[in-house]
Amino acid sequence: MLHWYDAHARDLPWRAQPGSSLPDPYHVWLSEVMLQQTTVAAVKPYFDKFVRRWPDIEALARAEEAEVMAAWAGLGYYSRARNLLKCAKEVAKRSGFPQTEAGLRELPGIGPYTAAAIAAIAFGKRAVVIDANVERVVARLSAIRDPLPGARKKIGKYAEKITPHDRAGDFAQAMMDLGATICTARQPRCQLCPLSEHCAGYRGGDAASLPVKAQKKSRPERRGKAFWIENDGSVWLVTRPSRGMLGGMRALPDDGWSAQADGSGDTALAGEWSHLGSVRHVFTHATLTLDIMRYGGSATPVEEGEWWSLEELDKAGLPSLFAKAARLALADR
Ligand code: ADE
Repeated sequence: MLHWYDAHARDLPWRAQPGSSLPDPYHVWLSEVMLQQTTVAAVKPYFDKFVRRWPDIEALARAEEAEVMAAWAGLGYYSRARNLLKCAKEVAKRSGFPQTEAGLRELPGIGPYTAAAIAAIAFGKRAVVIDANVERVVARLSAIRDPLPGARKKIGKYAEKITPHDRAGDFAQAMMDLGATICTARQPRCQLCPLSEHCAGYRGGDAASLPVKAQKKSRPERRGKAFWIENDGSVWLVTRPSRGMLGGMRALPDDGWSAQADGSGDTALAGEWSHLGSVRHVFTHATLTLDIMRYGGSATPVEEGEWWSLEELDKAGLPSLFAKAARLALADR
């Protein structure tokens, strides 16, 4: 795997050259947090934006939370952004990252995966790093046919056995790159794989069907309303409460669709409302259809919020759901 990585590693902005000196821990941490639940392609421009704006962890630690949230807008899973800032402050206070998995685990937003990844990649420690790509490669290599998530224990044991003492970070990233480019979920390209002669899944002829996944529960459907209130070239935006869905993000006012049963009701604004259309968005736990209502009156909402210039709307840091709603409203003008 290391030979293969030396020749085929993807060139990613947070990486050092394979086998060379270790990369900047700030870059490794930032990229690993961004890569939780998000693809490499989606992360790259955000990573570049963040390091240009906040070149080191001390700079990030001094940032305002609202700025960080707005810069994160579109990446999703916003609690990661809040924890990012908390973690930056903690690391700046300690004058650097702890270098062990156990030490890293104490930091906000760093779970077992991220701690192992940073310890191995940034600090050269031997740590066993298992993300979804590694999980798939290992399940195939060792032909683990039990369904996930139950299979994780066996996968972990096998990964522990094959992780080298030297270059565990390069090994982990080699497994990730193999999973992303060759040992892909749908049509693995086993002819190109450096591991095929050791691969029990390949020998068994069912590599492509591994790992087996337990049937997913279907996502509940939710429905709600969001309100487009425009006045003199500006739109009324609110900042969502810091707890809960899309917490701390700027947004259109809405009817509280995230309050499970009986939402908190429509805005108190009396007057004409028209239905502009609806947008759909898939969250982890639910699929939401949001009806976008345009206000035809001229009253100012009583709730807390701000008039935001439509010309500057791209700077508001709206999460994707509300950015979609805004596009719908702007197209209707
Ligand atoms: N996914 C998560 N971490 C990664 C990394 N360091 N390289 C490539 N893909 C990743």
